Amino acid sequence: MSSSLAIIELDVESWGDADDPVVVLVGPRDRLSADWRASVKALVEAGRHVIAPELSPIEPDLAVVALRRLLAEMSSRPSVLCAAQAVDLLSHALAAKGPPLAAAVIVVGGAVDIVETFGAPAMAIDPFDGPDPVEAFDTALVGFLEKNAPREAVVYHSGSDARTLRDALGCFATGVTVVTTRDGAGSPIGLTANSFSAVSLDPPLILFCLAKSSSNLARFRAAEHFAINVLHIGQQPTSGVFARSTEDRFQDVAWESWDTGAPILSGSLASFECATHEVVEAGDHLVFIGRVLRARFEPRRDPLLYFRGKYRRLHFA
Ligand SMILES: Cc1cc2nc3c(=O)[nH]c(=O)nc-3n(C[C@H](O)[C@H](O)[C@H](O)COP(=O)(O)O)c2cc1C
Repeated sequence: MSSSLAIIELDVESWGDADDPVVVLVGPRDRLSADWRASVKALVEAGRHVIAPELSPIEPDLAVVALRRLLAEMSSRPSVLCAAQAVDLLSHALAAKGPPLAAAVIVVGGAVDIVETFGAPAMAIDPFDGPDPVEAFDTALVGFLEKNAPREAVVYHSGSDARTLRDALGCFATGVTVVTTRDGAGSPIGLTANSFSAVSLDPPLILFCLAKSSSNLARFRAAEHFAINVLHIGQQPTSGVFARSTEDRFQDVAWESWDTGAPILSGSLASFECATHEVVEAGDHLVFIGRVLRARFEPRRDPLLYFRGKYRRLHFA
């Protein structure tokens, strides 16, 4: 399924300012009749960015995955306005484990019983009677969204000071690694680092940056090899241990060595055994570039992530 999904290019129509909170319209695009278009206009005027993916030509199972992926990959959690005949599709898309993928759900044209199952505040609206049904509908719609998915102004921070730089860098989500080597006496040493990056495939090079203030600087410089251990979601405690200035960080951690002796933490998501290729001075850090001698990975585990100074996990399917 995932290989077919990779080639699905969702055709998405959109209205309004892309910085505004998103409302996703789910339902056959030909439902975007005059009344729907009036609602789109009302939503845009109320400060919403409306998008309508064309899901109807896609085979139902793939449409569920495509919708789930669309909702999960938004920069913030979207609201959904769903036509009653697409409620099954939406229910399946929202049924993923983890935090709810929608901030609020509105079903148009019935299906009141299903609104409990979305894992988000939900409302069912039937087309109104009365002298101006479209306006009544729009008022209810906008009111519900204001209450359950309030607009927040987009606020950028900018500056050239250290705080802004740190906070801006913290917007780059990374994995977490433990970088290891052996000292002259053969004892294992290591520290938590998220400055890991791929550099080159041919030759196979990777890098990490080590603070010049590190108590292990001289030992990493002297070593001819090091290993990068990419942590999985269950290894957050290990990350904590290797980020603290404790004497023996390896005490409670299972590890092994391959050809060079650089410690490979058992059960890591991936490990790279490297020969030190080059060490580059860069401000208050040294950049260690390593030539990868051997790599190992376990494809079914989820990574431990680090974003804005906190550990995180993947939350979409
Ligand atoms: C998520 C995370 C990422 C880190 N990344 C790095 C890094 O890339 N380079 C670095 O020098 N220190 C990094 N640190 C800090 C070191 O892990 C920490 O200062 C450690 O105690 C250094 O030990 P040492 O001085 O014995 O080498 C990171 C810490 C955390 C929690």
